[in-house]
Amino acid sequence: MGLNLDGMVVPKHVALILDGNGRWAKKRGLPRTMGHKEGCATVEKTVETAARLGIEYLTVYGFSTENWNRSADEVGALMQLFRYYMVRLLKVAKANNVRVKMIGDRTRFDKDIIEGINKLERETADNTGLTFVIAVNYGGRDEITRAVKRLAADCASGRLDPETVTEGTVASYLDTAGIPDPDLLIRTSGELRLSNYLLWQVAYTEFYITDCLWPDFNEDELKQAIIAYNKRDRRFGGVK
Ligand code: IPE
Ligand code: IPE
Ligand code: MG
Repeated sequence: MGLNLDGMVVPKHVALILDGNGRWAKKRGLPRTMGHKEGCATVEKTVETAARLGIEYLTVYGFSTENWNRSADEVGALMQLFRYYMVRLLKVAKANNVRVKMIGDRTRFDKDIIEGINKLERETADNTGLTFVIAVNYGGRDEITRAVKRLAADCASGRLDPETVTEGTVASYLDTAGIPDPDLLIRTSGELRLSNYLLWQVAYTEFYITDCLWPDFNEDELKQAIIAYNKRDRRFGGVK
């Protein structure tokens, strides 16, 4: 599309909070589910675009630990969409050399969804292009809590000496172990909050908020975020 990224640094890891599906549908007098359906199509397109632009990691917030509190109808519809798009995603991933990884507590999902997630990861594990990380039943606090539980158990069993625990040790117990921290976080629909996303990992991430509603997000929107990122003066405690 239109915008040109020549000479720009493409962030290695882009994290996305896709928000605004409901508002997109409301604006059109449609049920919220239609917004989610359109939003899934946008995720698919964004994966292809990110792979083409040379982004190495794309982490997308698909369903939070708090999203279970929505109406049973909406949660049910989201699960059905998830089932459908997992199958499509496998095709997209294979066609674009994309490796898929899920973060979050998958144990709460129905058995067939867990199997679908495992299959997606297994069948794309050897792909060498973009790593597409999907955060589902994900909450930063839940992730840290689960990590602390395992870390404490390892200390109790003598496998880990508490005196040797470093930030790196903590990071290695998180769902994102082995994945570099995000360079750029994009949130659509204008909300200025993290909503429990990647609390540990975004310590030094650059934030970009757009009013664009998620189903309207496209290649030019992503490029605009990258252009804005290139104008930032990144510092890590005053040091570049
Ligand atoms: C984001 O869109 C999708 C999910 C959180 C599952 P929303 O459903 O939050 O849409 P808004 O924020 O109500 O517009
Ligand atoms: C954040 O969006 C979660 C996901 C995008 C999956 P929400 O719409 O759930 O967040 P809040 O409630 O506006 O903070
Ligand atoms: Mg929302």
